[in-house]
Amino acid sequence: MDKLRAMITGIEGYVPEYRLTNKELETLVDTNDEWILTRTGIRERRILKGDDQGTSVMGAAAVQGLLEKTGTKPEEIDLIICATVTPDLPFPATANIIADKVGAKNSFSFDLAAACSGFLFALNVGSQFIQSGTHKKVVVVGADKMSSIVDYSDRTTCILFGDGAGAVLLEPTTEEMGIMDSILKSDGSGEPFLHMKAGGSRRPATHETVDKREHFAYQEGATVFKFAVTNMADVSAEVMERNGLQGEDVAWLVPHQANKRIIDATANRMGIGPDKVMMNIERYGNTTAATIPLCLWEYEKQLKKGDNLILAAFGGGFTWGATYLKWAYDPK
Ligand SMILES: CC(C)(COP(=O)(O)OP(=O)(O)OC[C@H]1O[C@@H](n2cnc3c(N)ncnc32)[C@H](O)[C@@H]1OP(=O)(O)O)[C@@H](O)C(=O)NCCC(=O)NCCS
Repeated sequence: MDKLRAMITGIEGYVPEYRLTNKELETLVDTNDEWILTRTGIRERRILKGDDQGTSVMGAAAVQGLLEKTGTKPEEIDLIICATVTPDLPFPATANIIADKVGAKNSFSFDLAAACSGFLFALNVGSQFIQSGTHKKVVVVGADKMSSIVDYSDRTTCILFGDGAGAVLLEPTTEEMGIMDSILKSDGSGEPFLHMKAGGSRRPATHETVDKREHFAYQEGATVFKFAVTNMADVSAEVMERNGLQGEDVAWLVPHQANKRIIDATANRMGIGPDKVMMNIERYGNTTAATIPLCLWEYEKQLKKGDNLILAAFGGGFTWGATYLKWAYDPK
């Protein structure tokens, strides 16, 4: 029997309207547009405003658009995986809420937490359900409302993050297309450098945790930066090497958008020129699980069937990985 692979057959993104510019951040913390732009490559990020507006609002908008675009009925979806570190609630899973919002009555759904590598991990988990032949239409959504866990009095983190969501549809193929190979890694000893101190079972919310501002993302930027550059480049180079790919064979590098300097260093190490690197960090900042699908969504019209893509991510945990993907369709 021919080997089944999972291919992406559609992609959609969603970003909220409100733009938080570097200029506005200058009014909140001691920073400036020039510092942010040169140190990170970010000019503005989108913020989801309004009461009772959680991550599922953006995730559901992306999935709804994906279903319309691909002519898929909600009842046809077998599985929805939502990668997020900012779920609407600790439980139920945001994926369940999204499934309900879009009317995916026949799907099972769950969340996956791998921070900025969340979309890549979820893509590979979803791909396994396709490859095994048990499921035919799997939706993978990366969505984060980072503004809900960012401390807007901490200039070292608040400049980095934004809100957004992106979703892909995975379907089976027997062609040499889709997800070809992946290397996925995690190392729990990275916890002290990037985490949220309270709000989980170890340190549930109390007046003290709120007073100490422990419900926000905490990061030691310089350490994370070093790990990100080394690890993302290492796995990307390894996945290329074991598939016999040189820089010139890769049509696009699709990197997690954390810092333009990390992206440039990774591309450089892989021998990939800047014109072949997907980048939208300038307009959205780091949207955590949403960065990679948002990039694919914005570059979709430039992608051709058979293009070799390397998706690369690094995030809290630490978590990191690279996926070699053969794009499965021409622009529609
Ligand atoms: C956060 C980050 C942008 C900081 O950049 P950096 O070049 O490492 O800067 P440093 O932390 O060394 O700080 C350099 C100086 O700028 C200052 N600084 C930090 N944030 C600033 C800001 N927003 N505006 C102005 N100055 C700032 C620091 O206080 C420091 O000043 P000092 O030298 O007087 O102590 C960078 O470390 C980074 O991108 N890290 C990785 C982030 C990441 O990938 N996170 C998500 C993982 S998925």
